[in-house]
Amino acid sequence: MGTCLAKQKSVTLRSSSAPDTIGLGKKLGSLLKEGDVIGLVGELGTGKTWLTKGLAVGLGVKSENLVTSPSFTLVNVYEGRIPVYHMDAYRLQDLSDFLAAGLEEYFYMGGVAVLEWADRWPEILPPHHVRVELAFVDEKQRDITFSGFHSRAVEIIKQMEGGPQGCRHGFDCTKIRRDECC
Ligand SMILES: Nc1ncnc2c1ncn2[C@@H]1O[C@H](COP(=O)(O)OP(=O)(O)OP(=O)(O)O)[C@@H](O)[C@H]1O
Ligand SMILES: [Mg+2]
Repeated sequence: MGTCLAKQKSVTLRSSSAPDTIGLGKKLGSLLKEGDVIGLVGELGTGKTWLTKGLAVGLGVKSENLVTSPSFTLVNVYEGRIPVYHMDAYRLQDLSDFLAAGLEEYFYMGGVAVLEWADRWPEILPPHHVRVELAFVDEKQRDITFSGFHSRAVEIIKQMEGGPQGCRHGFDCTKIRRDECC
């Protein structure tokens, strides 16, 4: 066990298919409120966009209105129960491009902001963000770790963990790790 500098909570769930990841995204979306920020981290093809699709549906966006990825437009805005701002930092060269495009403002516009490649400039994320890291297990399986420090992030993560019935929300996941620090 390393030394803890701040209170952190994390939970890792295993997704065994792309629809499972959509299901996890739906559950996450159903828990979110105005001003929440989700920072997605993970290699190409781990499922960041699939998770975001589920998240948007969980916030009431109709699935036919979803587009694949905001790679070309920088941000896709969806009208759900509250607006969803889906951003992708992959094609940006550096932080000044992110700021010049006005993307930081979406964190403070009163909707839910989701940023893919959120580890590129971690300093821009508001302190209450939930970090969601996706990692390959094999072709079909992913480990998805939800972590955060702020009380709002911890509240969301606890609900994702969901107690003994946490995985019975229309998807089949296995809780594989849990960590509470300090
Ligand atoms: N358990 C799983 N969860 C999510 N996607 C999965 C899973 N198993 C297989 N896949 C496949 O992996 C791909 C994930 O693509 P997705 O665009 O969501 O990745 P990404 O992390 O957003 O990549 P990029 O960095 O290119 O934006 C899809 O083709 C999906 O069908
Ligand atoms: Mg993507």
